[in-house]
Amino acid sequence: MCGIVGYVGNDKSLEVLLGGLKRLEYRGYDSAGIAVIDGDGAMNTRKRAGKLSVLSDDLEQAPIANGATGIGHTRWATHGGPSDRNAHPHLGDDGKLALIHNGIIENYAELKQELLNDGAEFESETDTEVAALLIGKAYRETGDLTSAFRSVVSRLEGAFTLLAIHQDEPGVVVAARRNSPLVIGLGEGENFLGSDVAAFVAYTRRAVAIGQDEIVTIRPDSVLVTDFAGNEVTTDEFEVSWNADAADKGGWPSFMAKEITEEPAAVTNTLLGRLTEDGVHISELDDLGEDYLKAIDRITIVACGTAAYAADLGKYALEKWSRLPVTVELSHEFRYRDPVLDERTLVVSISQSGETMDTLMAVKYARENGAKTLSICNTQGATIPRESDAVIYTHAGPEVAVASTKAFVAQAVAIYLLALHFAQVRGTLGQEQVQHNVAELKALPDKLEQVLESSADIAALARWMTDTDSVIFLGRNAGFPVAMEGALKLKEIAYIHAEGFAAGELKHGPIALIEPGQHVFVVVPSPRGENSLHKKVVSNIQEIRARGAVVLAIAEMGDAEVAANADEVVRIPLAGPLFEPILAVAPLHIFAMELAKAKGLDVDQPRNLAKSVTVE
Ligand code: G6P
Repeated sequence: MCGIVGYVGNDKSLEVLLGGLKRLEYRGYDSAGIAVIDGDGAMNTRKRAGKLSVLSDDLEQAPIANGATGIGHTRWATHGGPSDRNAHPHLGDDGKLALIHNGIIENYAELKQELLNDGAEFESETDTEVAALLIGKAYRETGDLTSAFRSVVSRLEGAFTLLAIHQDEPGVVVAARRNSPLVIGLGEGENFLGSDVAAFVAYTRRAVAIGQDEIVTIRPDSVLVTDFAGNEVTTDEFEVSWNADAADKGGWPSFMAKEITEEPAAVTNTLLGRLTEDGVHISELDDLGEDYLKAIDRITIVACGTAAYAADLGKYALEKWSRLPVTVELSHEFRYRDPVLDERTLVVSISQSGETMDTLMAVKYARENGAKTLSICNTQGATIPRESDAVIYTHAGPEVAVASTKAFVAQAVAIYLLALHFAQVRGTLGQEQVQHNVAELKALPDKLEQVLESSADIAALARWMTDTDSVIFLGRNAGFPVAMEGALKLKEIAYIHAEGFAAGELKHGPIALIEPGQHVFVVVPSPRGENSLHKKVVSNIQEIRARGAVVLAIAEMGDAEVAANADEVVRIPLAGPLFEPILAVAPLHIFAMELAKAKGLDVDQPRNLAKSVTVE
């Protein structure tokens, strides 16, 4: 949940650390701090509550000496509220060791008691300081930072990535990880560590992901990775597929604005290399084997937040095309309710970051209980894909804004591809149907571009609704997950009470909420097609309008009946029933962003949230 960066090389630690933290700020932004060993061998630290800009301003006013070895941290508070004192780095008791931490040390209370019995004094209320004091003490015994780590980390329970530097050992950064992310960046005469590759992609695209329970020692010219016992382990280098520009705002007023405009490209890139002359082939599924894909009898999808709504949407296509029963579960609910699993269950996880702890735990649980696991993920080298039997990467590019947008469309498209791959392997769709669906997928990016052209109208609608304090979202069938996603986005960044409901459920309760002036967004399906639910949704609109609701419809171009029944209509291009929801979601992303902007809120960094929730 926190962002971590480490550097060893030349006298430019300050630039590397502050630049890296800027790119990691989405992970947490309630306090930030750095520690640098300067050219004279002195340890300089600075930490401040508030966003990274508070720390940067502070450093500008009262600079510290630069150096060749340093660590930096941006925090999302768990133990101990956000304050200067609780911000990282934390120091060992002699002030020579500085340490930063992402995660939660679950047995910190007993370790703290042990230290208190030895006369230790604590400066903060964090669990992290326990690790700083223990490793600082171990250093005095071993005189070597890597050995000091080795003697302490296996005693720590829970989730942690720890990075430390020691004044008596300049030119070295040591790190350890258990259940929290860590990636190495390989440079020339310099090396980097980060919670993810965004920390160092401005300097190098050569990266190495670190496995569970491993310790890393980086020096300017060497990298050593061992297990907690000190045995050297082999690692795999990979090349980061995007560059630093992709992780910058590039002239956009916010990352969220930039990422919504990247929705069409996110679809294009997720399709890339996966469409064949005959239909779809996802080569990553070869790892599971065709016999296995034929033998499974059930799919369970686990995810949280926006990824779970993408899963809900994907379920419609997956079930329809593959004829496999599909259930979607919130990862944290799945994990603790003794679900029925066996070797014929495929558990698919969806996670943009690949680090969401609830989802990671669900994946581990599924594997331990005999299921095979497939990860749909947007972040190379992340933990969830590493813990899964196979991975389909969505190539949406880095997503920085806390509220997920382009990842949603990429995740939905990845499940649609999976559904078509299954349909081909299992023979549940004819060639013509597969090709029809592929054509629909290929047409999505252009249609999404058309949707984005109405951004100004949606912004005007949002400004008109600035004072609203409650919005209801209705959708039916594949439009239902879109309603849920629209409501989530509004809660997340505009802090407006919003609820998504299945339109058919309206009469079973939610209609009691409708009173004059209540704003209701309705995702309206196309009237075309024999099985269209258009009429039923229009009836719902009439029911709520009769009770005074202000109806904002999202409907396909040319749908005149809706225009006659709604107060405002946002138009989307024509698409098949399973594809129009992917077009209907972009206006809701834009709407939430514009409403938050109109209220003067920070759309990229909403209060209390973090992009990557790496605690349970
Ligand atoms: C957090 C974020 C959401 C995101 C969810 C799942 O709650 O604020 O925007 O949808 O985590 O994240 P993941 O990385 O697993 O997709």
